[in-house]
Amino acid sequence: MKLQIINGPNLNLLGKRETSIYGSTSFEEFFETLKKRFSSLELHYYQSNVEGEIINKIHEVGFSFDGIIINAGAYTHTSIAIHDAIGGIKTPVVEVHISNVYAREEFRHKSLITSKCVGMMTGFGMEGYALALTYFINKNAAQ
Ligand code: DQA
Repeated sequence: MKLQIINGPNLNLLGKRETSIYGSTSFEEFFETLKKRFSSLELHYYQSNVEGEIINKIHEVGFSFDGIIINAGAYTHTSIAIHDAIGGIKTPVVEVHISNVYAREEFRHKSLITSKCVGMMTGFGMEGYALALTYFINKNAAQ
C-alpha cells in the first residue's frame, strides 16, 4: 500500500517549535521510526509551508495512492482551497493534529477540511500519524 503523509506550515519546526505542545522530536526522526514500525507500507512524506504546494501534492498523489494523511497545520482553519483539493481527488484522506485542537484556542476548533476527510485524529501526539496508518491497514485487510 502506498500512503502519503503531508504536513503543512510550521511543521518543519517540529522538535524546536513550542515543545510543550508539539514535543521535542523532529518529524524526520519520527518518520524513520514510522518506516520501521510499518515496514510493509510504502510511505512517502512531504512538508510545505506554501498552500499551493500542498494542493499540488494532493493532486499529484490523489488519484494513485491508497491513502493520504494530512496535518494541514493552521491552513486547517482557513483553507477553502485545501478543502476543495481533498474534495476533488479519489484517494481517501485522514486528518491528523498532534495537539488536541479542541482543548486550545477557539479559532482552532473549526476545521475546514474534516468534512472532506474520512475522519480526524487530534490530541494523540505524533502517535496520531501511526493511528491513521493503522486505519488504512485495517481498512485494506477488511476489503
Ligand atoms: C496542528 C494544530 C493547528 O491548530 C496548528 O496551527 C498547527 C499544528 C497540530 O498538529 O496540532 O500548526 O495542526
